[in-house]
Formats: sequence, C-alpha cells, structure tokens
Amino acid sequence: MRVFVTGGAGFIGSHTLVQLLRDNAQVTVFDNYTNSSPEALKRVRRLGQSDLTAVEGDICDTGALKTALEEARPDAVIHFAGLKAVGESAEKPLAYYQNNITGSLALLEAMDSVGCRRIVFSSSATVYDPHEQPPFTEEHRLGAINPYGRTKQFVEDIIRDWAAANTETSAAILRYFNPVGAHASGDIGEDPVGIPNNLVPYISRVAGGSLAQLQVFGGDYDTRDGTGERDYIHVEDLASAHLAALKHAMKTTGSETFNIGTGQGTTVLEMLKAFEKAAGRSIPYRITDRRPGDVAKSVADVSKATRVLGWQAQYTVDDMCSSAWNWQSRNPNGYDNAE
Ligand SMILES: NC(=O)c1ccc[n+]([C@@H]2O[C@H](COP(=O)([O-])OP(=O)(O)OC[C@H]3O[C@@H](n4cnc5c(N)ncnc54)[C@H](O)[C@@H]3O)[C@@H](O)[C@H]2O)c1
Repeated sequence: MRVFVTGGAGFIGSHTLVQLLRDNAQVTVFDNYTNSSPEALKRVRRLGQSDLTAVEGDICDTGALKTALEEARPDAVIHFAGLKAVGESAEKPLAYYQNNITGSLALLEAMDSVGCRRIVFSSSATVYDPHEQPPFTEEHRLGAINPYGRTKQFVEDIIRDWAAANTETSAAILRYFNPVGAHASGDIGEDPVGIPNNLVPYISRVAGGSLAQLQVFGGDYDTRDGTGERDYIHVEDLASAHLAALKHAMKTTGSETFNIGTGQGTTVLEMLKAFEKAAGRSIPYRITDRRPGDVAKSVADVSKATRVLGWQAQYTVDDMCSSAWNWQSRNPNGYDNAE
C-alpha cells in the first residue's frame, strides 16, 4: 500500500511511520519541520528497516502538495500536519486557522486532483464540550473552547462533507486523548520546541534536571486526589490505531469517527508517582491555581474503536512513563545535537 503522511516527522507521525514501514507500506512524508526534525526520519528509517521518501513542504502550498501527491500516487493519506498548542492558539488564532484549516482544505483539493479518496485524520478530545459528562462517546456533544480545538472541529466537518460528496470516499477521524510515551528503543520520542505544554514532557524535563519543578494546575478538582484526570495513551498504541483505521478505510466508504484512548483515567499526581518510579528519583512539584480552560476529567469511551476497528490499547501507564524516561535520558536535548 502507498501511504502519504503529512506531518510524519512529528511525535505521533514518526511512531506511526515505523509501524507502517514494518508493515511493508511505501511511504512518502510531507512535512515543513516547523515542529520537528529530519533527524526523526533518519531514525524512523533505521527502526522501520526500510526507506521512505521525505518531501519538505508546507500543506498550505497547494502546488507543492499536488506535485508531491502526483509523484507518490498514494492509496491513502494520513493527515497529522498541524499546529497543536492550545495556549498558543489563543494568542495566535489566525495562524492556527490558516495552518490547520487552509492546510487541510489544500490537502483535500490536492487529493481530489490525483483521485486519492482515503484519509485518516488526527483529531482530538478537545472537540468535546467540556460540560458533558465523561466517559465521552463519539456521540457526545461537541463544543471546543479554544481556537486549536475549533480548528479540529471545523476540519472534522469539512472531511465529513468531502466524504459525503463522493461515494468512493472513505475517512477515519481519530480523536486522540492524551498521547504520551516513546518507542521502546528510546530513539524516537516527543521533542517539543521550548517549554513543554503537556504534562509528561514537562515531568521528563524536571526528572532530567533541565526544569526545576512541576507546576500542578489545580488541586481542588472533583477527582480522587483533587488533580485533573486524563486518559493517557501510549504513542505506540496510537500508532497501531492508525494502521487499523487505514485498513478499515481501505475496505469501507463514508466517514467514521473513533475515540482513541485507553478508557482509564489517571490523575496528575498518579502520573507523577508513576514517573518517579520509572525514573527512580523524586520529582519536585507545587500545586498552583487551576489553569483557565482545563476540565476536571477527560476520559474516552473506546468501545467503538474496539468493536469496529478491532483495536485496543495494550500498554499501561508504567509502560508510558518508562518509555518516556528512556527517550529523555538517552536524548536530553531531543533531536538537537544528534550525530
Ligand atoms: N500530541 C497530542 O497531544 C495530540 C492530541 C490530539 C491530537 N493531536 C494532533 O495530532 C497531530 C500530530 O500531533 P503530534 O503530537 O505528532 O504533533 P507534532 O507537532 O509533533 O507533529 C506535527 C507535524 O506536523 C508538521 N507540520 C505542522 N504544520 C505543517 C504544515 N503547514 N505543513 C507541513 N507540515 C506541518 C510539524 O512540523 C510536525 O512534524 C496534530 O494534528 C495534532 O493536532 C495531537
């Protein structure tokens, strides 16, 4: 199978590429490296024991996209490319709408021009209305509360409309919960630019000594220990969900949406303890005020993915922490200064 992967050099993309290569897919990656490094692809080739084609380009550049798609002639596209920082999206909403929405429109147009009608899209749990009661099923009411989440909600709708307009089209929309962890080799992992926005990369940096202390936003939520509860999913499980979704999209038409999580909630303090165990050291933290826009609890109902895709998460929170720590301790500067 020929697969065209936008944003493939990023955190989730790189892990998915290794599994695609191991599954004998012919892969073309299209990435502008705005939040990633070509070094990740070098390592992916090694771990996947196969080559891939890498094209440097921006998904908003329709001409470059069309040329790359004409060369690749893919059977399907996995669309990871996008900006993803919730806080930054509130500061730079237009950059987010431009990149995530215009870029997705350009991609679908370019796919039409080469007759490629199958897509797997990276959506997010942030599309759910936070006032709804978890666990979230795919039928829960949507109501993103920040520009990032709204770009995902809009692009979901655009893809559903695109799929509805052509009977040969197939779209799998995956709503990820909280992806964490790294490849077992410790060679690829999450390498955020600047100060991490997400919990596990932040804890990793504190454990590694490059940040002093973890700030826990809110200790008075209605959860087991008062800290926010999330559905963390190992990035390797998330990668295998893409292969399952791709196989499903190859034999069906229409559009389907799937929650991708474990269905289990873990609080911030529970995650911290699990990471301390994995790293074998204590991690300083301080509980501060709640962060605007955060909810007490976000957990997936994953029964649809299990039923329809035959997919289920395999890894535990301990696996997530030990693999994240393995990546961090082997690559304290991420992909920077790599040989
Ligand atoms: N990591 C998460 O917590 C999470 C949760 C839910 C959904 N998602 C979504 O999953 C996708 C992948 O996330 P990730 O964590 O791997 O992020 P990432 O930033 O590591 O990867 C995104 C990749 O897209 C590339 N990219 C961004 N804009 C581009 C453009 N205009 N043209 C070409 N390439 C571009 C970046 O360089 C990067 O390689 C994103 O769409 C993100 O919104 C991520």
